[in-house]
Amino acid sequence: MIALPALRSVSMCFYAPVSVEDPHLVKVPVSSEIHIMEASRRARWLAEEMGFNRIAAYHIATAASELAANLFFHGRGGTLSAFMIQDPAVGLVLLAEDQGPGIADLALALTDGYSTTGSLGCGLPGVRRLMDQFDICSELGAGCQVQAVKWLIRQ
Ligand SMILES: Nc1ncnc2c1ncn2[C@@H]1O[C@H](COP(=O)(O)OP(=O)(O)O)[C@@H](O)[C@H]1O
Ligand SMILES: [Mg+2]
Repeated sequence: MIALPALRSVSMCFYAPVSVEDPHLVKVPVSSEIHIMEASRRARWLAEEMGFNRIAAYHIATAASELAANLFFHGRGGTLSAFMIQDPAVGLVLLAEDQGPGIADLALALTDGYSTTGSLGCGLPGVRRLMDQFDICSELGAGCQVQAVKWLIRQ
């Protein structure tokens, strides 16, 4: 049985990059399908820069791809950011933000196999499993924010 990161949707604590000029800050506006791949590629680059091993970098790239795909397919576009934090530990944050229709039932959206578009429905639950911390909040009609963190464990 895989232990899932706790879901914290009520009082979501947003992390912020150290500075907007941080060379480790990745910000990809997602308004077309091609941006999904770009978000994934750039998140992977950041993960490698930060010293994540290949498997962790692959998990981060996959999570970024799923979040960016949701921005495009469900959120009417948005922004996928990836950045490093150092407090409370060194970690990589993925933040997906949109101003789309929002999600009516978060628990349902996080259920394996649930999709409103007939696709696989494993994007959000997959991101939750791939990363160490997972937060989601959404207001119906106003959009959605998903934040997922992977902590860097130095070998
Ligand atoms: N950014 C978003 N805006 C609105 N709804 C979303 C968003 N992300 C996910 N959802 C909803 O959650 C459901 C589950 O998402 P996901 O697990 O990624 O599966 P899939 O994308 O294959 O449908 C989606 O079908 C959609 O209804
Ligand atoms: Mg999806």
